[in-house]
Amino acid sequence: MPQRVILGVSGGIAAYKAVEVCRRLVDAGLHVVPVLTPSATRFVTPLTFSAVASEPAQTELWNAPVPIPHTRLGQRADLIVIAPATADILARLACGLADDLLSATALATRAPVLVCPAMHTEMWEHPAVQENLATLRRRGVEVVDPDVGALAAGDVGAGRLADPQVIVERVLSLLERHRARPQSSGPSRAGSGASGAPHRDTGRDLRGRRVVVTAGGTREPIDPVRFLSNRSSGKQGHALARTAARRGAAVTLVTAAPFAPADEGIHVLAVETAEEMARATLPAAEQAEVIVMAAAVADYRPKRAAPSKLTRSERVPELELEPTPDILRALVERRRPGQVIVGFAAETGDALGKGMEKFARKGVDLLVVNDVMVAGAGFDHDTNQVALISAAGIEQLPLQTKDAVADAVWDRVVELLAAGDPVPPSAPTDEDPVHGAHPGAVRLGTEHARNAYLGQSIEPEDHR
Ligand SMILES: Cc1cc2nc3c(=O)[nH]c(=O)nc-3n(C[C@H](O)[C@H](O)[C@H](O)COP(=O)(O)O)c2cc1C
Repeated sequence: MPQRVILGVSGGIAAYKAVEVCRRLVDAGLHVVPVLTPSATRFVTPLTFSAVASEPAQTELWNAPVPIPHTRLGQRADLIVIAPATADILARLACGLADDLLSATALATRAPVLVCPAMHTEMWEHPAVQENLATLRRRGVEVVDPDVGALAAGDVGAGRLADPQVIVERVLSLLERHRARPQSSGPSRAGSGASGAPHRDTGRDLRGRRVVVTAGGTREPIDPVRFLSNRSSGKQGHALARTAARRGAAVTLVTAAPFAPADEGIHVLAVETAEEMARATLPAAEQAEVIVMAAAVADYRPKRAAPSKLTRSERVPELELEPTPDILRALVERRRPGQVIVGFAAETGDALGKGMEKFARKGVDLLVVNDVMVAGAGFDHDTNQVALISAAGIEQLPLQTKDAVADAVWDRVVELLAAGDPVPPSAPTDEDPVHGAHPGAVRLGTEHARNAYLGQSIEPEDHR
């Protein structure tokens, strides 16, 4: 039976693009039920959606053909996607209002909810909108961030509805993820969206733990207007902070990506350079049980930053570089007994091989390796594909959202904390491969995992 998707459409100028989203979802084999807010019907008629969807569009909380339409829609949905999501509907979802069919349906569901905001830049950047989104994210609502581009009335900026294909791909990957991780059947508020979290039920297994997460790419000044940096967006680090907070940890986020949203309740230290990150992270780490170094810290910085802007009329400057502080190394040297340290390695080409070498050399308890050349993984994507290397072996995870990757990392950290005495770092050994703890994940001994990673064949029985 095809999976049922509610396509919520709210009253923004991008409502017409939701027709294309609808068509593509139907083409992907889904049963699509459009639900329009009254404002949305001013932009596109319900008839247009009815013509391309799997059943007629619905708009009425009152006078509907069935007595209680929102519960019926919400209970039967496998996923609710709202595209475009106006500032207004985001606020209603964040507050738990249910004064029209779409917001009521989003409350009366346990299905995951995906929102795709679209609005003018001023609205998008308004703290009210960002705080509502942070609230929704904290509850587990998934978000496809808007693009930067042409808006209505000739304006250009952030707030343009994401490309319909990007939205459809997120819907499909969420449905896939939730098929792999069925939700509990109890009367939880899980589901999602406005009403609960669609995440795996990890409970609050980090309650009382103090964790420090670093995020983003540091910027090393060349002159007052230029810097050396890298492509890190900070999304994975922020996802780690968000999921740790959701699992009960007291989180300090040292971020060189201050514009990425951070949830309420997270202690944020905004930094710019590797030096500043070291100065913020090392004291915070003294109190922490877990440190996750997800930041892409520059290895080198200009030895001298010019005091004023370098101009074209001057001769071509020669940048002399010097190493930045090695924060991970300092953390490992100062490690308290029982403290768990997680490193990250963003690699290109033979990522796993380089990761294994780094794991052996760095003295961390867990190394998260990603090949940033893989499509959909690494810098600036909402999804990531990583391998987790620990003394217990290597776990290769599938392509999934950065929140799901973060949850997998915390699962390993919880195991290390439970062990009390994290296994001292050493090169992983060849052991019998075992199934990984995560759906779609395979935990393998070193050699098997490396072969799998390199695309060499592994007989099915090797996984048993
Ligand atoms: C021409 C026009 C275009 C609009 N475009 C947007 C938009 O792109 N994004 C948005 O958040 N609100 C937009 N609004 C405002 C919303 O329509 C308004 O906040 C409305 O209450 C949204 O209701 P809904 O969320 O129930 O659909 C627009 C309003 C008008 C008149």
